[in-house]
Amino acid sequence: MFQPAPAQAEDMTQFHSDEYIEFLRLVTPDNQHEHMRQLKRFNVAEDCPVFDGLFRFCQLYTGGSVGGAVRLNHGLSDTVINWSGGLHHAKKSEASGFCYVNDIVLAILELLKTHQRVLYIDIDIHHGDGVEEAFYTTDRVMTVSFHKFGEYFPGTGHLQDVGQHDGKYYSVNVPLKDGIDDESYELLYKPLMAKVMEVYQPDAVVFQSGADSLSGDRLGCFNLSIKGHAECLKFMTTFNVPLLVLGGGGYTIRNVARCWTYETGCLLNRDLSDSMPENDYSEYFGPTHTLHIQTSNMENQNTREYLEGVLAHLLDNLSKLSCKPSVPFHQVPTDAVNMEQFSNVKTFDKSNNESPVATNEYENEQHGTALLRQQPMVHSSLDVVKFPTAEYTEHDLLERKLAPEGLPRTQVSKSEETPMTMMFPSVTNKRESS
Ligand code: CO
Repeated sequence: MFQPAPAQAEDMTQFHSDEYIEFLRLVTPDNQHEHMRQLKRFNVAEDCPVFDGLFRFCQLYTGGSVGGAVRLNHGLSDTVINWSGGLHHAKKSEASGFCYVNDIVLAILELLKTHQRVLYIDIDIHHGDGVEEAFYTTDRVMTVSFHKFGEYFPGTGHLQDVGQHDGKYYSVNVPLKDGIDDESYELLYKPLMAKVMEVYQPDAVVFQSGADSLSGDRLGCFNLSIKGHAECLKFMTTFNVPLLVLGGGGYTIRNVARCWTYETGCLLNRDLSDSMPENDYSEYFGPTHTLHIQTSNMENQNTREYLEGVLAHLLDNLSKLSCKPSVPFHQVPTDAVNMEQFSNVKTFDKSNNESPVATNEYENEQHGTALLRQQPMVHSSLDVVKFPTAEYTEHDLLERKLAPEGLPRTQVSKSEETPMTMMFPSVTNKRESS
């Protein structure tokens, strides 16, 4: 487990506009009435409200993802988890779907300093639009999003949206309908991801594990079990590629906690008992007090023909990528995060018997309340990002998780008038020079 440095404004402007970040830094519930024009311009309203500590919140979850990327870059870990990250809707100059700063884009940019190709996978029920848009015109990043499509937020993620320019066929969209179950999901997911790994050969993978695709989610409409959800993550570990695992959506909070606990166990190769140990939060998990959840009898609107059609179409697109793209050698850029932050890293060996649940040894006394009271731990090179400095109360956390991601929108066109303006890091890859 490690405590990353909070991301600074200059780290965030690697992707976001200076004006937007400056606004997030300055706006408070007390002064927001002085910023009406900017509130509108940056979409900070309704499902992306101003709240006390907003910028600090962004610094903490972003620092976790970027700090995790730095660790992967240095080979200090082969897997890093930041359950507080994964805010995939944030745009360059716009908040969206309760996402303000796009920690995923920033972490991928960091990974691109030492990795040639980064694969992004998003199993949140909502389209990973912010990440897709950021890398829509490049082949350095392939984005693959599985999501509910059709009269659903954010409205993007059509099967035919495949990327543009150098990025053509490097954006992969898997539009799904209500009620998809484990079996249907796996039918699509495994052959598709196997093909992606074969043709793209990424040297790092970022996995957004949004839990709103679980059965019974307050905003979602899929019918996945926790095991079905976790199977997607487990499958990616079989390729032995550095892995950054992030959180995301999830609005039936007790099931979000269940899901990410189970998935942490999977990454640690630990079998967690289905009966929960007694803890301070037991009342949230009644009446069953089990780790796993029952799926429902809702109709699965994804017919076998539909799923096979989508899969065939996407496999055909991938077959057009004849060879993996490469980038020339350059000097490695400096880290976004000062390495001194890693002085209190504690790593856990998979083979020993240390408990996967740590005491809250990094709890910051200055701020008192820790965001996460207990945190699953790590194996030899698996790290969990922890946020001891959070000033948020449990109530704030509930508020966050309950915030609606917003209403359906019309599709955003990805025209040439809004090209990528980010500078991609040059890369040195030690393993190959092609
Ligand atoms: Co979501």
